[in-house]
Amino acid sequence: MKDHTQKIHASSFGDEFQWGVVIAAVQNEGAHNSYGKGPSIWDTFSRRSGKIKGSHKPYVACDFFHRYKDDLMLVKALGFKIFRFSISWPRILPEGIGKTNKEGIAFYHRVIDECLKLDLIPYVTLYHWDLPAALEKEGGWTSHLFLKWFSRYVSFCAEEFGSKVKNWIILNEPFGFTSLGYMLGKHAPGKRGFNNFFPAIHNAALAQAEGGRIIRALVPHAHIGTTFSCSEIIPFSDKETDVMAAKRVDILLNRLFIEPALGLGYPRDDFKFLEKLELYNKSWKYTRRMQFDFDFIGLQNYFPVVVKYNSFIPMIQAMEVKASTRKVSHSAMGWEINPGSFYRIIKQFWSYENVKKIIVTENGAAFKDKLVNGEIKDDQRIDYFNGHLHALLKAKKEGINVAGYFAWTLTDNFEWSEGYTARFGLIHIDFETQLRTIKNSGYWFRDFLNV
Ligand code: GAL
Repeated sequence: MKDHTQKIHASSFGDEFQWGVVIAAVQNEGAHNSYGKGPSIWDTFSRRSGKIKGSHKPYVACDFFHRYKDDLMLVKALGFKIFRFSISWPRILPEGIGKTNKEGIAFYHRVIDECLKLDLIPYVTLYHWDLPAALEKEGGWTSHLFLKWFSRYVSFCAEEFGSKVKNWIILNEPFGFTSLGYMLGKHAPGKRGFNNFFPAIHNAALAQAEGGRIIRALVPHAHIGTTFSCSEIIPFSDKETDVMAAKRVDILLNRLFIEPALGLGYPRDDFKFLEKLELYNKSWKYTRRMQFDFDFIGLQNYFPVVVKYNSFIPMIQAMEVKASTRKVSHSAMGWEINPGSFYRIIKQFWSYENVKKIIVTENGAAFKDKLVNGEIKDDQRIDYFNGHLHALLKAKKEGINVAGYFAWTLTDNFEWSEGYTARFGLIHIDFETQLRTIKNSGYWFRDFLNV
């Protein structure tokens, strides 16, 4: 992608193209135990020692709960038309099921009404990783009761907000929260092992489709999608073992959740992991229920993954070769910066016959920003966005139906196990004072979107 130093403008994408910016409840809202909200798995997980950098907690975060009006003004000022945010399940249903919380419901009405007042189109994510802690006690995503709980929550949201909200995203990155939360123990709820991972995967594959069906039934004229994390997988060498390792990782990272949603079932390649997963599927007899005809597929891409064979890793027998080891340019998260790979992964997902429309529902980068004399010169982030938008335009010009691009993220926020140390925002936050400062990348977006 040689041409990404050239300036582009949003108008090259056409008038219909949707430009948005994203936040998530745990990462931004704060007010973690007030106004009737129940604890989420991130509240409890963050109390376990050693789990989150600096022992940071998502308790206050960006205080979006109280400052949503200011933040929505900033969305508007930067020129975005779409605001994607998530509903916190335990703010609506403090115990996960049963009694609803009036103050929590009223809060989301306020946010939605403010969006509509400002002419911002709300995109609501139903699950961005904050399971009610009460449900985790009963097994969380591994429980055979999970679908029942989730259906109740989704139906409630559809009935409550469906007259105002037409754009719905069912899950945020099912591979992300099942692998990090139920296999590797790095994210909430901190569970490990295949015995947790398999049922969590299967429940997530079912929940994304079931959620879609519920919204379709209850919200007239709904535009329904769900999101998938994705990364181009590159073998470290052309050795057969590395190529096969890359294939296995591609199945996990890219194919595991979209294929069931498209009605293809789980991938059927020769891979022991899939045989075991199929056992769950068979015993639960739900294959058809994993399919749903989504109006759009939300792609979330940050970096490519280079993979090498490693016989010590159970079942997967593959390991990542980090960008720093390969000495290629990378962000503060250690993630390779490679716009060409963004283009290629979009093409890979578009190659599925029944994907009708793609929206890039997250893309962005963390850097070690410095606030100097009231200014943040985040040239690297500008370059990241510029490069990735060139790659997106190329894909669009080649006929791929990409209908939108949402930047991650509006403000610096609580970045999961990185706490407040990783800054992805277009707007800087001083977490002591909650002062917001628009970064140069924010101004860059404003010019790009031409406000
Ligand atoms: C995504 C996630 C976001 C955000 C981002 C940057 O996987 O959906 O919540 O944290 O990564 O790491």
